[in-house]
Amino acid sequence: MFYSPVRTNAAEVAQSEKLHLFRFVEDPEQVKIDIYETHGGYKAWKKALTSMKPAEIIDEIKKSGLRGRGGAGFPAGMKWSFIPKDSPKPRYLICNADESEPGTCKDRVLMERDPHAVIEGMAIAAFAIGCHRMFIYIRGEFNHSIDRMQAAVKEAYEKGHLGKNVYGSGYDLDMVVHSGGGAYICGEETALLNSLEGERGMSRIRPPFPAIEGLYACPTIVNNVETLASVPHVINHGADWYKTLGTEKSPGSKIFSLSGHVKQPGNYEVELGFNLKKLIYDPAYGGGIRGDKKVKGVIPGGSSTPFLTADMLDVSLDYESLAEAGSMLGSGAVIVFHEDTCIVWVILKLIHFYRHESCGKCTPCREGTGWLEQIIRRIEQGKGKPGDVELIEDVCGNILGRTICPLGDAAVMPIQSAIKNWRDEWQYHIDNKKCLVKTGFEFK
Ligand SMILES: Cc1cc2nc3c(=O)[nH]c(=O)nc-3n(C[C@H](O)[C@H](O)[C@H](O)COP(=O)(O)O)c2cc1C
Ligand code: SF4
Repeated sequence: MFYSPVRTNAAEVAQSEKLHLFRFVEDPEQVKIDIYETHGGYKAWKKALTSMKPAEIIDEIKKSGLRGRGGAGFPAGMKWSFIPKDSPKPRYLICNADESEPGTCKDRVLMERDPHAVIEGMAIAAFAIGCHRMFIYIRGEFNHSIDRMQAAVKEAYEKGHLGKNVYGSGYDLDMVVHSGGGAYICGEETALLNSLEGERGMSRIRPPFPAIEGLYACPTIVNNVETLASVPHVINHGADWYKTLGTEKSPGSKIFSLSGHVKQPGNYEVELGFNLKKLIYDPAYGGGIRGDKKVKGVIPGGSSTPFLTADMLDVSLDYESLAEAGSMLGSGAVIVFHEDTCIVWVILKLIHFYRHESCGKCTPCREGTGWLEQIIRRIEQGKGKPGDVELIEDVCGNILGRTICPLGDAAVMPIQSAIKNWRDEWQYHIDNKKCLVKTGFEFK
């Protein structure tokens, strides 16, 4: 029995020669270590530890072009190489499993259904950076993921994949499962470090970057669950094989969490460069729009990324193509809105979230998100004033690029794009004190 009955394309992945992350996620036995091993599990860890040097592993990951799947898309191998080689301090690896970006629900599937793949990827990364104690920081509300990971870690110790003198190599590796602080900001890597240290989850000013001074002021690498779960496949099959998936600049596969007004929401593993329209309409994936309505807009990479409009759906889901289209791949959470959606209402929901989740450390984000919520709420309630759209733009302009962490940018980018794409709808709300799409509904 699975904890979260989310739809996946595991059957298609099992038939594919190349897709790999979801190959066994519909097999309820996969969570057991014996079955994981029967499916080839822990082979990559053994290979890395017993026949590769840390620098070789880093080079292989660099060569594979694997980029971080947590949002920013930073090359994983390059990040690992930033760990200072001569530092006498302990080094730490943290798997970021906070998964709080609205729309994103892929990491929990990996943790709940293939937890050993996460441990194996973490172990290889830990060895590559010289870490002997690694952590997984799991969103506090994900009780089932926490249970699954704890059970899997226990099994991995019992079978000698973790612990003292792993595989007789002389290398010791411990793993800690940590339940998160229950805030979106705790997924931001420096706030995560504070939270893991027992402090309030607030972002740190950079530099120093975590690779130099992270957990307990020691060199630390933070990587997303999906990034780390991809690592054993690169080690098993090689960087050249990995690069045969995806596009030249965005190699590999990626899990997209498809939600919103589609007929078949779910998590789908596809090659990077997959067509967005196909993901939404193909019966193997989204299966089209509920009620066969038209698309109004799509957020392609989680709620922090700018909208694409209906005429922009013929785009490749990779880092470069989405940037060219004015948006971002982000965490791969594709949220689809149909033609009857009030864009002001959507933005009100989003800004309410960001205002609530702002850690409050810097003024533009702390105050600005609150002001934005007030203005947008009054427009949505039919009490908007002339000049409110321009006022929103002004406040957004004073947040963007002026905050300590990217939450400020994340809050304003969807707002700016919603105004750019549907300005007439905002103005209609203000002028007519009612919504353009929710016809027949008058505000008092
Ligand atoms: C507000 C905020 C929330 C974030 N939440 C997450 C998260 O839940 N999971 C995650 O992996 N990365 C999250 N990130 C990105 C992390 O800061 C970091 O870039 C990432 O964990 C690095 O892993 P990667 O290189 O493998 O992508 C968040 C960033 C911000 C600004
Ligand atoms: S941008 Fe927002 S969340 Fe980030 S440090 Fe500033 S106040 Fe905190």
